[in-house]
Amino acid sequence: MVEKIAAGNWKMNGTVADLAELSKMANAADRCMVETVIGLPATLLVPAATDLSNQSDLRLAAQDCHANASGAHTGDLAADMLADAGAEYVILGHSERRMDHGETDAQVAAKVTAARASDLTPIVCIGETLEQREAGDALKVAISQMTNSIPDGTTAGLVVAYEPVWAIGTGKTATPDLIAEVHNALRAALIERFGDDGADIPLLYGGSVKAANAAEIFAVEHVNGALVGGASLTAEAFVPIIESLAAS
Ligand code: PGA
Repeated sequence: MVEKIAAGNWKMNGTVADLAELSKMANAADRCMVETVIGLPATLLVPAATDLSNQSDLRLAAQDCHANASGAHTGDLAADMLADAGAEYVILGHSERRMDHGETDAQVAAKVTAARASDLTPIVCIGETLEQREAGDALKVAISQMTNSIPDGTTAGLVVAYEPVWAIGTGKTATPDLIAEVHNALRAALIERFGDDGADIPLLYGGSVKAANAAEIFAVEHVNGALVGGASLTAEAFVPIIESLAAS
């Protein structure tokens, strides 16, 4: 059985006052017994880990890490530092980082290696732009990003999130048929590369997932959870998504 994961991504949102939302999400995660992960701004990892120290089913994620273990990289954070701050996962290669910071597949792959060396589970994000989809290249782009962002030898301890760029933060959700087509192709590519281990890598869908569309997305074959931005900022919006995944 592939593990189901409800993952949130707070992006550049949230201060200590918002951690009350996280406690409510942790309660839901415990009640639903679903692996729930929230990607926090790095500033919130330590206070969140302190707040949640008695609650085990909500895991914290960082939103990026540097590929090096230490050194002269002003403003960057090493995977070991993030693990030390309480992160158990790290979101890598999000399309906003690929666009805002020009991150390449090779750089993402180096970060995956660094994350795994620090016992962080990478959530590797991939997905095509609208231009690429309209040109008929969506599958090719998603598969090549996945292939090149995952270093050889990486199997267990890895999550892949397919997030079509045109569906992120736009309110446009991909249809179940479209998601099925891509997730089938990604699963086949993972099995071709990693054999049986490729069948066990959780494949998340992301892009305007919300309570109203979660159930139909989770019903799609090879969708093992979601990576959620806007609807992960409050418990009111995110708890129904956790519940929907538990019921799927
Ligand atoms: P969204 O973001 O749910 O706000 O579309 C998803 C993401 O960027 O991970």
